[in-house]
Amino acid sequence: MSKQTDDFFKSIISHAKEYGFVFPSSEIYDGLSAVYDYGQLGSELKNNLKAYWWKSMVQLNENIVGIDAAIFMHPTTWKASGHVDGFNDPMIDNKDSKKRYRADQLIEDKIDRYEKDGKTEKAATLQHDLDEALNNDDLARLKTIIEDHNIVCPVSGTKNWTDVRQFNLMFATQMGAMADGAEQVYLRPETAQGIFVNFLNVQKTGRMKIPFGIAQIGKAFRNEVIARQFIMRMREFEQMEMQFFVRPGSELEWFAKWKETRLKWHLALGADTSKYRFHDHVKLAHYANAAVDIEYEFPFGFKEVEGIHSRTDFDLKQHQEFSKKKMQYFDPEINQNYIPYVVETSVGLDRLFLTVFANSLVHEDLSTEEKQDSRVVLKFHPAIAPVKAAVLPLTKKDGLPEKAREIMAALKMEFSIQYDEKDAIGKRYRRQDAIGTPYCITVDHQTLEDNTVTIRHRDSMQQERVAIDELNTIITKLVGWNNLLKQLI
Ligand code: GAP
Repeated sequence: MSKQTDDFFKSIISHAKEYGFVFPSSEIYDGLSAVYDYGQLGSELKNNLKAYWWKSMVQLNENIVGIDAAIFMHPTTWKASGHVDGFNDPMIDNKDSKKRYRADQLIEDKIDRYEKDGKTEKAATLQHDLDEALNNDDLARLKTIIEDHNIVCPVSGTKNWTDVRQFNLMFATQMGAMADGAEQVYLRPETAQGIFVNFLNVQKTGRMKIPFGIAQIGKAFRNEVIARQFIMRMREFEQMEMQFFVRPGSELEWFAKWKETRLKWHLALGADTSKYRFHDHVKLAHYANAAVDIEYEFPFGFKEVEGIHSRTDFDLKQHQEFSKKKMQYFDPEINQNYIPYVVETSVGLDRLFLTVFANSLVHEDLSTEEKQDSRVVLKFHPAIAPVKAAVLPLTKKDGLPEKAREIMAALKMEFSIQYDEKDAIGKRYRRQDAIGTPYCITVDHQTLEDNTVTIRHRDSMQQERVAIDELNTIITKLVGWNNLLKQLI
């Protein structure tokens, strides 16, 4: 990361904390690694991102419905899905520092360093060796690579490594009060399995006809070996997943369709097209016949925000085998029973939050010849902004606060509104800019005479005078979901 991008990333983290978006978890106890809390504005923004996703999936598509499955699931679920045996990361410990690392990430960091030093050939060979070792699950080879390339522990600076071992990423806990009768259960590492096990419940009770989708938003938990880059890689995070059930043989067509649909969804939030790219998976998981990541260019490089996977009939077939319950669908159009194929879209809500934050945070220089000036603005799309409008009496006297409160009382029935009367008006505008409020409604002495107010637009800083009676209609038009959703159709 260059100094400039590093500084920008640090400013994202500090801005998120300073304005009540994201706090380290249990901070008074020095925090908990890779766990974060969303503050008063962060939770509003997160709720709006969830609403955008839910509306675009469930509200706009007649053939997609949403569910809310439990986090705990029968432990056999994770046997059937392959997570008990295969949801691992290769880890290695340094015996001197007692620090634990992901072996593949240590090697990837070395590849980055070779590239930065212009040793491109060396970087390419190392990448090839790493891919080969990972493809063959060859843990001994990973250790040899680490030793051969003189990779040292960033903390101790030594090469005193343990062997590479597999580390299962699922958190386990006990269900039931009696230790001997207790059953080991897992905190779900993905929300998708809650959809698969409910496939028939939803299909039958909702009289769903293939192709159809089931959407879900919820927490997922992974005991990441190392977690870094703020809310990018967390141990407790949230996913928004949709499993789309299709006729076998049509899955690649649907995969291509969802790939385009999902990119369009991200772009509607306002980022430049150049900020996004597709990354096709070369090595496919054993159950997939196509997979692609949608990557966003974070300050630390292009990284995955969403995965789109053609998962074949793997999951339903596995659940059929382990539960001994038929997972078939009768397709009246072709008069056949079959296990549907699945195309999955899976976006991490926290990563999405970070893309939106990184894309919206702007440090603007407003200096003129006469004076130096600047502002920090969060240029959120108005539909997802945590606060839609602030109502500001120009002064604290002459009945202006009372009038402003009246306006606020009417607007808060529909929108998330802030009231602020402290400090000079310019300072209050800046405060609202910094939390991304798209509109400031100012109540001044003219308001008392003719029932009009000014609306200040966050991005242009232009002001217009409007009638109080029209405020509700105007704000609805400016911040309505329609502004985002119409771009998807
Ligand atoms: N059901 C498929 C699945 O879980 P995944 O690629 O492992 O696929 C999907 O995860 C998305 O979940 C990722 O694209 C990412 O946005 C998010 N995600 C995964 N692990 C995460 C973590 N440790 N912290 C934050 N987000 C994570």
